[in-house]
Amino acid sequence: MSPAGDVLAQLGAHRLVPVVVLDDAAAADGLAGALVAGGLPVAEVTFRTAAAAESIRIMASRGDVLVGAGTVLTPDQVDQAADAGAAYVVSPGLSRAVVERCGERGVLALPGAVTASEVMAALELGVSTVKFFPAGTSGGAAAVKALAAPFGGVRFVPTGGIGPANLHEYLSIPAVHAVGGSWMVPRDLVSAGKFDEVTALVAEAVALTGSDSGGKEV
Ligand code: 3PG
Repeated sequence: MSPAGDVLAQLGAHRLVPVVVLDDAAAADGLAGALVAGGLPVAEVTFRTAAAAESIRIMASRGDVLVGAGTVLTPDQVDQAADAGAAYVVSPGLSRAVVERCGERGVLALPGAVTASEVMAALELGVSTVKFFPAGTSGGAAAVKALAAPFGGVRFVPTGGIGPANLHEYLSIPAVHAVGGSWMVPRDLVSAGKFDEVTALVAEAVALTGSDSGGKEV
C-alpha cells in the first residue's frame, strides 16, 4: 500500500477526524496527549491560525498521532504542512493545484466535494475519497447517500455541523469513510489547557463510533 493509501486506511479505521484550531502552538503537545488518552490519536490541524505549522510539527514529532493539515487553500500551505510532517492535507473545496502539490509531496489529499461535478473533478485528479463539506448545510446525510449512489468507488468524509446527536446518521452510510468534526476538541478548552475535559469528550466520541461499522474498511 502506498504511504497515502496507508494514511487513508488509518483514517478509516479510526472513523473520526478531530478538526482542531490551535491559537498557540504551546497547546499542541497537551492536545496530542489528550487525543491519545481519549483513544483517538488523529488530528486535522487547520491553517486558520498562524500556529498551524508549528503545531503540526510538535504533534507529528511525537510519533503517536496521525497528524494532518486542514483548511489548506494553496500549494504553499501544502509545502508548509508537508515540511512540518503532516501525513494528509484537507481542503474545504477542490483545487487542482493543491491536489497536485500533495501528489508531488507524497501526502494524501482530501479535498472537499459536495456535488456530482466536484466528485467527477476529484476522480479526474485521481482522488476517490473526498471531504463532504459543509455537511450539514449541503443536505446532510441524505445528500451524502444520494451523491454516493452513482459513484460506487467514492468514499466520503462528511464534516461540518456534525456532533453526538447526528453522528450515527453519517457513520451508518457505507460510503462514509470517516466523519470530521470539532465538537470533541472545543477551541476554548484547548486554549485554556483543559486537556482532561478534552480527553473526556474524545473518549465519548470514540464510544459513539462503537456500534457503527457500516463504512469501516476491513
Ligand atoms: C472544518 O473545518 O472541517 C469544520 O469547521 C469543522 O466543522 P464543525 O466545527 O462544524 O465540526
